[in-house]
Amino acid sequence: MRPKDPFIGREILGGQYQVLEKIGTGGMGSVYKASQPAMNRMVAIKILHPKLANRKDLTSRFRREARAMSQLSHPNTVKVFVYGEMEDDGSLYIVMEMLEGRNLNQTVRKDGPIPIERAIPILIQVCGALQEAHDLGIVHRDLKPENIFLARQGGINDYPKVLDFGLAKVTERQMQPGSIILTQEGMVFGTPEFMSPEQAQGRTLDARSDIYSLAVILYEVLTGKLPFSAKTPMEYIQKHVTEPIIPLSERVADKQFPKELDEVMARALSKKPEHRFQTAAEFAEALRPYGGPAAQALPSMRSDKAGAKLAASGADSGKLEPAKKSSGSGLLIGVAALCLVAGVILAVVVMRLLGR
Ligand SMILES: Nc1ncnc2c1ncn2[C@@H]1O[C@H](COP(=O)(O)OP(=O)(O)O)[C@@H](O)[C@H]1O
Ligand SMILES: [Mg+2]
Repeated sequence: MRPKDPFIGREILGGQYQVLEKIGTGGMGSVYKASQPAMNRMVAIKILHPKLANRKDLTSRFRREARAMSQLSHPNTVKVFVYGEMEDDGSLYIVMEMLEGRNLNQTVRKDGPIPIERAIPILIQVCGALQEAHDLGIVHRDLKPENIFLARQGGINDYPKVLDFGLAKVTERQMQPGSIILTQEGMVFGTPEFMSPEQAQGRTLDARSDIYSLAVILYEVLTGKLPFSAKTPMEYIQKHVTEPIIPLSERVADKQFPKELDEVMARALSKKPEHRFQTAAEFAEALRPYGGPAAQALPSMRSDKAGAKLAASGADSGKLEPAKKSSGSGLLIGVAALCLVAGVILAVVVMRLLGR
């Protein structure tokens, strides 16, 4: 029998919330559905794993990112009501709006690849949410289908909400496909399948890294496959850095996609950030012509150029840092970073095997 979750059935935060059930789990903690009787509503509460409460690096990240998320007010970003630390055991929490529906990963697993006229309006709205974050100098860094939720809201079925803004996570399952991997210091590195080349090389990230990850998500949502064939997380990392993407129409034999959309995807998935769309708004506008009537009906997007520059100046962790210039030695550093990652992965595998 599994040990009972310590939060389920508990009243927390001075009895304000009653925790009802677990609705999601990650390396850093769990997400629960809870009722808030005083407001007559349900909320979602993300709680940092109590076991990690003594990891200073993780708790300060959880706090910092909760603060970043509370600055965001775009309708396609999950709303944070309040965050803090529980009085009794010091667990960190974030109280959010409760979303009904499925995340994009669950949706694709249930429905299969999504038709272009449904997928593109979703992506355009996600670009809107990211544009706001980028304008504030916040880079998500872990965009993947699990972190995009399709909510039922106000009579609309596919209301996208971006979750999990740049939260650092530590996971036992770090070697499995689809999960995050860590650098040597235990800092989150990203998710191999959706990782930009610069992220794969351990470089400073900016808003354009998010645009790459978004394009991988769109590719997967449309085809049910990733833009390269690979068997291991390490192989994905390598291919993001070196391998040209397979055009959409070649990836699935029985489906046709507009040739121009392949060009849009190729640009968004350029190896070099400077060859991509430079803002999420620009990417959204490039996608719009292929998204059918629902895409045409969405408001057009404006990017705050000053803010975009801010995000491009190396807002690696949601705060401003001076941008690192890439130089001829960049490739060397990249190769070294790859070797480092390979070493860490190998060490973990060896430790696991020895532990058995
Ligand atoms: N506000 C919410 N409402 C409903 N479900 C949510 C909410 N937030 C997260 N979830 C569910 O929990 C899962 C994990 O949440 P996430 O914030 O991504 O945490 P993690 O850090 O564990 O990845 C999501 O993929 C989603 O299915
Ligand atoms: Mg997540």
